[in-house]
Amino acid sequence: MLKSLFVFGVLGVLLISAKCDLISVCIEDDNDLRVDCRIEAKPNKINSYEYSWSTGTKEFLINTNVSGSSAESKFKKSYVEELQPHGYRMTLEGFTDKLPHNTTYMCNISGETARVDVERDQLVPCSAVSVFLKSSCSWIVCLLLFVYQTHS
Ligand SMILES: *[C@@H]1O[C@H](CO)[C@@H](O)[C@H](O)[C@H]1NC(C)=O
Ligand SMILES: *[C@@H]1O[C@H](CO)[C@@H](O)[C@H](O)[C@H]1NC(C)=O
Ligand SMILES: *[C@@H]1O[C@H](CO)[C@@H](O)[C@H](O)[C@H]1NC(C)=O
Repeated sequence: MLKSLFVFGVLGVLLISAKCDLISVCIEDDNDLRVDCRIEAKPNKINSYEYSWSTGTKEFLINTNVSGSSAESKFKKSYVEELQPHGYRMTLEGFTDKLPHNTTYMCNISGETARVDVERDQLVPCSAVSVFLKSSCSWIVCLLLFVYQTHS
């Protein structure tokens, strides 16, 4: 019994860390790039966001509302919306065919950073991701609770 709990626990941690990422990147139907960042802003910190990507050694600022820093002008067709319950979504228009190959996408919310490496060929359509993401996190938690209960 303990052994199976352990196995399911490890499995759960693996699944959750893979699927409930703080940052996710995908391509929308109209070819916009979308970066979702689900870092929770600390209540006692200044609420701000910063989106950037880096290729090799160069880092480019895509969008930010940190006062004093400004994004590259080539990314001016980007905008940021708030996500519920927390986090931000950045959409970048008209860039999909110009995306660099191996890119590290980063977001920084109130000083906390999340990053993910994505190769251009591995970018997935958002329609495929959202269905999956919406259900998977809570679904896995339920499964784990169920397994935990039936075994104890
Ligand atoms: C950045 O935008 C968010 C949401 O619109 C806002 O709550 C926050 O105060 C802004 N931060 C700064 C530094 O302007
Ligand atoms: C991207 O990275 C992978 C390994 O991480 C490497 O095999 C590939 O050649 C890289 N592609 C480019 C265009 O740099
Ligand atoms: C994130 O933002 C904070 C302040 O806005 C800054 O001090 C920190 O260096 C940033 N982190 C990265 C990795 O850019």
